[in-house]
Amino acid sequence: MSVAPAGPAREGWGSKTGFIMAAVGSAVGLGNMWRFSYVAAEGGGAAFVILYLIFVAFVGLPLLTSELVVGRMAQVSPVKALEKLAGPRWKPVGVLFAFCGLGILSYYSVIAGWTMRYAVDALRGVLPADAASASDYFGAVGVGTPSIITHLIFMAITITVVTGGIKKGLERTAIILMPMLFVILIGLAVWATTLSGGGAGYAYYLRPQLSELFNPTIITAAAGQAFFSLSLGMGALMTYASYLKGKDSLPKQAVTIAIADFSVAFIAGLFIFPVIFHFGLADTIGLGGQISDNTVGTLFITIPPALLSLAIGKWIVAAFFIMLFFAALTSAISLLEVVVSAVIDTWGWTRIKASVVFGLMIAALGLASAVNLNFLGAMDKLVGTMLLMLGGLLTSILVGYKIRDEAEAEIAEGMTSPGMRSAWIGLMRYVIPPVLLVVMIFSFPGLITAVKALFG
Ligand code: PHE
Repeated sequence: MSVAPAGPAREGWGSKTGFIMAAVGSAVGLGNMWRFSYVAAEGGGAAFVILYLIFVAFVGLPLLTSELVVGRMAQVSPVKALEKLAGPRWKPVGVLFAFCGLGILSYYSVIAGWTMRYAVDALRGVLPADAASASDYFGAVGVGTPSIITHLIFMAITITVVTGGIKKGLERTAIILMPMLFVILIGLAVWATTLSGGGAGYAYYLRPQLSELFNPTIITAAAGQAFFSLSLGMGALMTYASYLKGKDSLPKQAVTIAIADFSVAFIAGLFIFPVIFHFGLADTIGLGGQISDNTVGTLFITIPPALLSLAIGKWIVAAFFIMLFFAALTSAISLLEVVVSAVIDTWGWTRIKASVVFGLMIAALGLASAVNLNFLGAMDKLVGTMLLMLGGLLTSILVGYKIRDEAEAEIAEGMTSPGMRSAWIGLMRYVIPPVLLVVMIFSFPGLITAVKALFG
């Protein structure tokens, strides 16, 4: 299928585990903790979790499988892949993917920078322990020069990893960081069971208010969250799969990635919700109602001061933010890799040049988010929500209509049942496109609000 590119052989993963770890690393990110917890809180707790699961199973998983199929089939970065498989008219879709990578990483890195700052400050013992100062503190380090500095440091780390290449950079980082992340996460969730009054938190989190299941705002939020969290709609996993050589079962890998991603988000909730209820923060962050201003800062403003009132609080806060930092880094490298692999494949640049030049461009774009949280919020709605869904819509049309037979052939080995294959194609053709269109329409007001906040 693949045409050998001129020049040196294309890179590849060192092992199957390495690929899975890196893909899970891409999926598991700030989205699982920072975004999941605030969106779940806005979305009525358990009702949101159920809707989220439905989207993951019927939209996320089939699309994730499709991205892996397209990537492995093409053996080149998405920009080239779509052109190669579906003709020159599809090339702009690949370009859109790269733009999404650029746009998302620009603000993602700002938030990731805060996690580093908070981890270090927790260990230094300088995080304020009272709620009022915590908000001022976030205002001081989250915006402006301090935020620019941590953003630039995080981008420098990301660029360094990506210059190392697939095996020595991305794969090695994921293999080291992902197991540590799991250990910290489980430790935190187990520790949270010792908190008194946490029961109300588990109840809010786990007992659904069924009426909320039909609330369009929550449905939309769950869909957007599923996309962001699974790294869908912008070719991140497509890019990773393009470095796969063997013929392993792609559906199985897609299921592994989705389960790992959901588990992390879910377990993070098992830490965050008991903490919120133990410390009586439910009102502060507006559970059940609307979280008003500055939702992006919720995690940074509310969680640390509460925990710092405990003797071991400092260590818990530090562990939490270190974990977030690990999660963010393994996602950030996948965002940059989409751009870098496109540049390598289309313009023939070296990896180092591509990573540094485009990494710096992203760092420069991110300055806007570092000085203005409304800009960050608007980017998250425009690129991190709307464009990802558009990308998912186009991917479903590509696989469901344009290259259906080739895609079915590519997946056949891992999905031997013809019935399953038809179900998968059927979802791509008839279910996912209309669902995404509706969700995009419902997401529109959120985008408008965010853009208004930017100019208002
Ligand atoms: N999935 C990542 C997270 O949950 C974010 C991400 C989105 C990464 C899209 C790559 C592509 O944080």
